[in-house]
Amino acid sequence: MHRRPATVAIVTTTPRLTLRHFHPEDAEAIFAYLAHPASVRFEPYGMPSRADCDAIAAERANDDRFIAICREDGALVGNVYLAPEGPPAWATWQIGYVLGPEYWGHGYASEAVREVLREAFESLHAHRVIARCNPVNVRSWRLLERVGMRREAHMLQAASFASHPDGTPIWHDSYHYAILDSDPRP
Ligand SMILES: CC(C)(COP(=O)(O)OP(=O)(O)OC[C@H]1O[C@@H](n2cnc3c(N)ncnc32)[C@H](O)[C@@H]1OP(=O)(O)O)[C@@H](O)C(=O)NCCC(=O)NCCS
Repeated sequence: MHRRPATVAIVTTTPRLTLRHFHPEDAEAIFAYLAHPASVRFEPYGMPSRADCDAIAAERANDDRFIAICREDGALVGNVYLAPEGPPAWATWQIGYVLGPEYWGHGYASEAVREVLREAFESLHAHRVIARCNPVNVRSWRLLERVGMRREAHMLQAASFASHPDGTPIWHDSYHYAILDSDPRP
């Protein structure tokens, strides 16, 4: 039987990156990567203000689900998110990620996600890690396939992060990806 730890607590390095916990002092850096329309286009939240980022940094400093991605030069380029999914006995985690648009196209997200998957399977003894994304978010599902995750489902009209003027939901489809502890990881 797999057992899932209560917290993530990932602090690690990769060839080009350091993955660490957030600090309250990260507010300016969070604003710099998150306050772009492209960063939040497929997220359930909107662009944060600078003041919102003070609160976000303070919250994340006490929330191990959010893992800051830092480059060798110290730039905080984005975050990975790793959260428990379902009952602890299922040993299942959901992964997510956001990078500032100026940091796309360098392989940083793949490098960070690969390392978090390695930690999830080797340190947290995950059985299954899942991810969901809008099919229109091609960069996101290409990343998921690059790191060895398998598309298991195309869910129709499975999520809504916005409404029509009359209040009815604007539905979008959702791809569901997963990787198992028994799968090969590139
Ligand atoms: C999803 C997201 C993280 C993907 O970022 P990304 O930079 O495309 O992903 P990767 O880190 O895998 O980088 C891959 C790209 O870097 C390039 N690259 C350059 N140098 C590289 C290197 N040394 N190693 C690997 N790839 C490299 C690859 O060729 C590829 O480029 P391409 O897309 O033009 O083919 C980014 O688009 C994002 O933050 N979006 C907003 C938030 C979001 O939508 N999150 C997901 C919600 S479901």
